[in-house]
Amino acid sequence: MSEAARGRFITFEGLDGSGKTTQLRRLAASLAADGHSVVTTRQPGGTALGDRIRGVVLDSRTEVAVGRIAPRAEMALMFADRAQVIAEVIEPALAAGQIVLCDRWTDSTEAYQGGGRGLGADVVLEMHRAVCGTLWPELTILLLPDLEASLRRARRRNDRHKKHAGTDENRFEAETDSFFARIHAQYYAIAEREPQRVALIESDAGIEEIEWTVRDVVRARLGL
Ligand code: TMP
Repeated sequence: MSEAARGRFITFEGLDGSGKTTQLRRLAASLAADGHSVVTTRQPGGTALGDRIRGVVLDSRTEVAVGRIAPRAEMALMFADRAQVIAEVIEPALAAGQIVLCDRWTDSTEAYQGGGRGLGADVVLEMHRAVCGTLWPELTILLLPDLEASLRRARRRNDRHKKHAGTDENRFEAETDSFFARIHAQYYAIAEREPQRVALIESDAGIEEIEWTVRDVVRARLGL
């Protein structure tokens, strides 16, 4: 019996409210319609442990309960989540030859904890090596309209979230504009450093137009 060819690993990145989750879902549907076997997951989350970590890290009430989360603790929780999703979801799917689409990855840690919280990129990339080894996506779709448009979207989303009862995921979204400006700048730095892996989409176009752009990028870069 021959072994399945290793699958393909694609991630989506962007600021809160960038539309990356919608685009990930649309790409998944399009690839599945073309006959591919697709697995989608997200970070933080995507496993039972990851969902618990997500609850702790994103809930704005956490710091009321336990005090300030140290930036390095926050970074380590993101990597704990990542280690679990690699073991439970990503590696088995890649070994089975599937396409894995993941909503956020280490670029988010570099942008949010490295840039936003000021830890710097080096410590994040060092932790990536320790926890994830050499596992990186073949392609990262980075949705990054200019900072003002990004902030407007993030704030709109924040307002929408506030209207929902139940889960509270506002801890990051309640941050200042300068926090998001640092994240935005770090995302740019990643795109400039790794143009082969990262496809930067700066457009603020509508959902359909960006969907076609994403589909073209995936076809051109990965032949899928
Ligand atoms: P999202 O699932 O809506 O994209 O939200 C996840 C939030 O978690 C978002 O504000 C970014 C943040 N985050 C980090 O700060 N570091 C990370 O490594 C990851 C994966 C997410």
